[in-house]
Amino acid sequence: MTVDELTVEEAGRVFADYDAYTDEAYFHRACARLRREAPIPLVEAGGFPPFYALTRHADVMEAERRPEVFRNLPQPVLMETDRELMVKQAGDLATLVHLDDPDHRKYRALTADWFQPSSLARLEGRIAELARRAVDRMADLGGECDFAADIAVPMPLEVILSILGLPEDDYPKMLQLTRELFQGADPEFQRGTTFEEFMTVMYDFFQYFGALVDERRARPTDDLASLIANAIVDGEPIWPFQQISYYVIIATAGHDTTSFTMAGGLQALLENPGELERLRRDPSLIATAADEMVRWVSPVRHFLRNVAEPAEISGQRFEVGDRLLLSYWSANRDEDVFDDPFRFDVGRKPNRHLAFGFGAHYCLGAVLAKMEIRALFAELIPRLRWVEPSGPAELSRAIFVGGHKHLPIRYGLD
Ligand code: HEM
Repeated sequence: MTVDELTVEEAGRVFADYDAYTDEAYFHRACARLRREAPIPLVEAGGFPPFYALTRHADVMEAERRPEVFRNLPQPVLMETDRELMVKQAGDLATLVHLDDPDHRKYRALTADWFQPSSLARLEGRIAELARRAVDRMADLGGECDFAADIAVPMPLEVILSILGLPEDDYPKMLQLTRELFQGADPEFQRGTTFEEFMTVMYDFFQYFGALVDERRARPTDDLASLIANAIVDGEPIWPFQQISYYVIIATAGHDTTSFTMAGGLQALLENPGELERLRRDPSLIATAADEMVRWVSPVRHFLRNVAEPAEISGQRFEVGDRLLLSYWSANRDEDVFDDPFRFDVGRKPNRHLAFGFGAHYCLGAVLAKMEIRALFAELIPRLRWVEPSGPAELSRAIFVGGHKHLPIRYGLD
């Protein structure tokens, strides 16, 4: 069915429709129509609690600017009513996205300096080395690979393991766990759908990171894991549950998001060979290209906000307890903010995208993510003689963090 055949109410349901997230063109046509005709639809979709979707850039910004009214708690991410209950029953995590002020500010401050450009600068060499390794791996694969699974997935995970100070041997375990937690709706990655199966994923996370806390408390090093294991808030050491939650958010938020941006970034270059050529001829465009990839892909499709007092955005009234879905994917194609938003432009400047959010919860790893994306493409582009798709690309079935899970390509590489 085409978007034009849908009612506006039906178009609003794309946000709760897993299949719509696997069809980019359809999803974007629905969002463009909503931005034009009903920018804040109330979405009532089977199986999900009702929510308002914010589809315009200005409205998403407005919600982000007022974190005391539009709160992350009690529910920061959209999920089916029964899954939400299951997660609450299991005891939800206490990551940064599960906190509001005053706690959020205190817990964010623990690692904020660590993620500043000045301290990340010392990782530049390691990240360049991992990028070189990734492109060498592509060369070893002999001219054909699944760029998403073979290249874009491993590299950010290797970076995360490096910054947490974890051994490379743990790579398969971390890959499996982050996938099971974030891509659990995709049959390719899920461990299962029952409460018990979900609990075993959480249990494995707790066991793995629990051991890490003990180890770094006993023998602290200068890595991020030690910083978290020995953190003090209000004069007291933080609880193991909070430490483990911290590791979980860094391991998960720092992984799939960046992988999906790399894979979707290459897909955009494949679809726009003129932009690939432009980047090849002018490598100084790498920084704006990386930012454009982040806008284009917007791998974090949404976050939720929960209304804490009666409020209004663009004339739409909200009551206490209402939920707002901030659609970063839609906001980043908003015609009112971006010239020609459906054009992938490696030189786009300014680029006021909201893919990293805005305000109090602005992505802690934004600088790191851009360093990684720049490093990979700075290594790849000069060595890539030619590249073409060798099969159909495939998007993951995910309503929270998603993107290309398969991107088969053929290429010539120096
Ligand atoms: C292209 C890659 C990435 C994208 C698109 C992305 C996007 C986001 C978004 C949209 C948020 C929520 C912002 C808001 O609510 O306003 C967020 C939060 C966060 N991100 Fe990222 N992220 C990426 C990579 C990373 C990396 C590499 C790390 C760390 C290693 C990371 C760590 C975090 C953390 C810890 C938060 C929670 C911050 C808070 O609540 O205060 N992210 N990210």
